[in-house]
Amino acid sequence: MAKEIKTRSSVWRNFIHLIKTIKLPFVLLIIVFLLNLGRAAIQLLIPEKTGSISTIVLESGGDAVHLAVSICLTLFALALVEFVGSLVATYITNIAKAQMNRDFQKVASRKAFLLKAADIEAKDPKEFISRITTDTEFVSEFIIDLLVNEIPRLYFIISTIVRVASMGNGSLVLGFILVVPVIIVGSLWSGRVTYKAQNKLQAIIAQLTAKLAEKVNNIETIKAYNKSEDEMEAGGAAIDEMKKAQKKTTWAAAFNTLISNILFIVPTLIIMLIGAIQLLNKTITTQEFITYFGLGATYQTYIAAHLTLWVLAKRAQGATQRISEVLLLEEDRGGGGKAENPGTIEFRNVSFSYGDSEILSDVSFVVKPGSKTAIVGKSGSGKSTILNLIEQFYRPEKGSILLDGTDVTTLETSSYRNLFAYLPQNAPGFSGTVREMLAYGAKKEHTDEEYRDILQKIGLLDSIGQLGGLDYEVGTNAAKLSGGQRQRLAVARMLLQDAKIVLADEATSALDTDGARRISELIDEYAADKTRIIVAHDLSTITNADQIIVLDHGKIADCGTHQELEIRCDLYRSFLNAGKED
Ligand SMILES: Nc1ncnc2c1ncn2[C@@H]1O[C@H](COP(=O)(O)OP(=O)(O)O)[C@@H](O)[C@H]1O
Ligand SMILES: [Mg+2]
Repeated sequence: MAKEIKTRSSVWRNFIHLIKTIKLPFVLLIIVFLLNLGRAAIQLLIPEKTGSISTIVLESGGDAVHLAVSICLTLFALALVEFVGSLVATYITNIAKAQMNRDFQKVASRKAFLLKAADIEAKDPKEFISRITTDTEFVSEFIIDLLVNEIPRLYFIISTIVRVASMGNGSLVLGFILVVPVIIVGSLWSGRVTYKAQNKLQAIIAQLTAKLAEKVNNIETIKAYNKSEDEMEAGGAAIDEMKKAQKKTTWAAAFNTLISNILFIVPTLIIMLIGAIQLLNKTITTQEFITYFGLGATYQTYIAAHLTLWVLAKRAQGATQRISEVLLLEEDRGGGGKAENPGTIEFRNVSFSYGDSEILSDVSFVVKPGSKTAIVGKSGSGKSTILNLIEQFYRPEKGSILLDGTDVTTLETSSYRNLFAYLPQNAPGFSGTVREMLAYGAKKEHTDEEYRDILQKIGLLDSIGQLGGLDYEVGTNAAKLSGGQRQRLAVARMLLQDAKIVLADEATSALDTDGARRISELIDEYAADKTRIIVAHDLSTITNADQIIVLDHGKIADCGTHQELEIRCDLYRSFLNAGKED
């Protein structure tokens, strides 16, 4: 029980925290609030006016017709104003809602980009993006109902009770009060039903979106393995799951409507019955009965709407939890100090694992400024992981990484990353033009002349020229380029980035031997005075390295120059020999 209370209070704390992340559209909300308050006031007036007709007709004889007509006209005008008010209120409410949705979605998606790679990996990133987009709507819906509808509702409800009490008949008030517990019990319960069904549906939709996106991205593999049928079936099964969940939600919604209707009828009966008894006993007048009954009808509507607030609250509760899970994650900002100078990089007794098994064990090495360091090792030995750690996508579990003697975790991450040009293994491309691909992440503007110059150097000018030049659209993930073209473009981008330190992970793996050598020479030429850490698969490109780190199952087997290792390192020699075979 104590635990339950604790999690509840933290939901509301998260909720407040979430609201604070955006700017509420106060002006719009105040306008709608006032409109709704005005509408409630009119709704209080209408039954009074209606009731007054009965007195006129009964008591005033001939003039009564004129009076009745004028009251009817007033009634009509009031109803019209109320109707127009409701239209305007709905319109402004929707604008406010859209504005809040947008703000929440911006906060959430911005956060997604600031998270640590490890945290994004731990959750399914696509799944949480889709959660963020739908869940935010539930939160804004609730906030709006709470802020602009609840007080006018309560105002009407309380005024009605006060008015009925003023008729001096305790039974009438009792009737109004009796209906409240019926509605509260019903709303508590129906809120719960909706909350559960909706939560499940959201989770399923999010999973399905993530799965479909992944498969669509890999359509060629699916076709090559002739798995289209299977994938369609699997996709179909997931969609069926979703339909089942939707059916359940629909049932929950239908059930809710049913309950609301019953909740509406039962109290109406109670109110009508009590009023009728009092009228027959002559303890109230006809006018009072009409006013009482008119107020009762609207009172029902407001109580029913109040029930909706509860449903919205339950929905917002689940949504808040899911969004907060993401918002509360620590951002990938690092320490406070700005990293300005590219200095000596040192791994000091670094150990690291992604999960349970250790990937790097007690790795130590020093990279001097302006030097070329190569990392070699069998696939899976941890080469890319070393670059991931240098870029601080992950943090070492033991040991530390130092830049000029400063622990890199104490440096501001973005200024630190600015020191590096990083070419990941299988560097992906983004959709856009060749020019945009080259400009991505560049620290200064380049002219088309410079772009063509680098394309020339990288051996792409002719083939890109044939495709349509710098304006050529490369397609999603740059799929309209060959693997080799993509890789060359990625190298060109890295070189244009002109950072102080170059990290290149198998930058030439998609190229033929000659091409690979030319690109390596180009990197050496462009980055001659920069610190270079190169993961190489073609050893002939790194024989000139100042040091070569030989990795074996996450441990450093040896470290030295090509000449030194050739003599003393069996593992290195085996790589050299394997290279000669192909
Ligand atoms: N994001 C990840 N999550 C879990 N395990 C990973 C991840 N990335 C790499 N690994 C594992 O870590 C080991 C080393 O990977 P990696 O550093 O990429 O090797 P290399 O670049 O030398 O081929 C591999 O066994 C790989 O399966
Ligand atoms: Mg690798």
